[in-house]
Amino acid sequence: MKTAAKTDKTNANKNMETRQDEQNGQSGTVEPFKTSYLQKFFIEQLKDIYYAEKQLINGLEQMKQAVSTEELQDAFEEHKKQTERHVKRLEQVFKLIKQTPEVKQCEAIDGLLKEAGVIINETEEGTYTRDAALIIAAQKVEHYEIASYGGLVQLAITMNMNRVAEILDKTLQEEEDTDRQLTDIAESYINVEAEHEHGYSWESQEEPSKASR
Ligand SMILES: [Fe+2]
Ligand SMILES: [Fe+2]
Repeated sequence: MKTAAKTDKTNANKNMETRQDEQNGQSGTVEPFKTSYLQKFFIEQLKDIYYAEKQLINGLEQMKQAVSTEELQDAFEEHKKQTERHVKRLEQVFKLIKQTPEVKQCEAIDGLLKEAGVIINETEEGTYTRDAALIIAAQKVEHYEIASYGGLVQLAITMNMNRVAEILDKTLQEEEDTDRQLTDIAESYINVEAEHEHGYSWESQEEPSKASR
């Protein structure tokens, strides 16, 4: 019995050493994502935001075409270009962690972009009301991105992937800047102008029962 227990202990130590070796390998060049569920979750989240960023390129173009204030059109155009860079950065991250870039459908971003589409359908072209509403729709998207990148940066730091954290943090900063810029545009005049818009009523295209669900 004693001998068996000793053997078990020795095996357990060996297993631990093997695990330690694997973990050491993770920070080097060997199979970076082999054992941890957190790392798997990290990759899933990367795929989610990769999908979201790709969808946003079209979404921002649609919003840009729908608004009439020049400053807001420029802001959407600028952020669309930034979003293209965000896609490239994510591909860089996938490469760093030796994963093929893949998308995973993100229902949250699909829903947020659908809401922006509803605003476009329900508001009159050329009104400040539409611009004010689309700023809020775009900010909802920014907040989703901020939450996603904020979480990914923290996880990357926890898992000692400092270069990955640095790249994702660059995007995080840009999302936060965009959010602030949209607030400034809304507050500088669009919201006030929208409040003074008369002779215009919001045309809800949804059935009341559906809208209240
Ligand atoms: Fe982005
Ligand atoms: Fe964004």
